[in-house]
Amino acid sequence: MHSVKTQLTKMAKATNSLAVDVKVGPIKPGLLPQIVDIHMEAFKEYTNTKLGKGFVQSILDWFTTADDGIVLVAVRPDGQSVGYVAGATSDYHVRMNRALAFPGIAALITHPWIVLRWRFLYSLGRRGWKMVVPARVQAPSHRLASLVTIAVAPNARNLGVGDLLMDAFESECRKRGFKSIRLSVYSSNKPARLLYERRKWEAYGDLNGEQVDYRLLL
Ligand SMILES: CC(C)(COP(=O)(O)OP(=O)(O)OC[C@H]1O[C@@H](n2cnc3c(N)ncnc32)[C@H](O)[C@@H]1OP(=O)(O)O)[C@@H](O)C(=O)NCCC(=O)NCCS
Repeated sequence: MHSVKTQLTKMAKATNSLAVDVKVGPIKPGLLPQIVDIHMEAFKEYTNTKLGKGFVQSILDWFTTADDGIVLVAVRPDGQSVGYVAGATSDYHVRMNRALAFPGIAALITHPWIVLRWRFLYSLGRRGWKMVVPARVQAPSHRLASLVTIAVAPNARNLGVGDLLMDAFESECRKRGFKSIRLSVYSSNKPARLLYERRKWEAYGDLNGEQVDYRLLL
């Protein structure tokens, strides 16, 4: 089984085609629960996931309803989602954090132990910091997009779906007139960093921190 998959992947790489038949497009009604499940699996250890499915759904839903939100989904021919990417204008934090205040408080009441996790304090500090300090790249915020989250279902990884999602996100940002895109990633996240670097995203800022920032000029 494994060798068949490896062969398929090698053939797909050689022909520059995809080893799974998926199409990427804007999120359609009904797909939100599927991408919530992909997120819950991909970001198991992250604070927002530890706050529960309802909170993750509120976050992803915010990107589907915000005027500047972008949510693109990779869907198989049978209608099953295998990955998604979401983002918005880089100054989305303040608006999103306000909109998520109530779901956040509700999630904290039902998951009070979360405040003991160092990652909770770390992400709280980072969120607070981002609310007062704009992203450190050379573009006015309305021309700078943030890629906030990207994930592919475990059984669809290493088949080029991540690349397809990145292609679609970059071209959607171009279409909307953004001049550059930024993102942050945990420095230990090798698969994600390889994906960005292969696509010529450039690491910038503090390269030795817990998280590394990347940017792409469009
Ligand atoms: C990071 C992540 C989204 C990458 O998704 P992915 O679909 O596995 O990425 P891709 O398949 O496009 O690229 C991975 C591999 O597939 C290969 N590939 C790319 N295009 C391909 C194609 N057309 N056909 C076959 N293989 C291909 C790539 O070369 C790469 O292999 P290599 O690193 O051995 O060279 C995925 O690992 C994930 O969901 N991780 C958990 C969530 C996460 O950490 N997100 C990032 C947070 S910022």
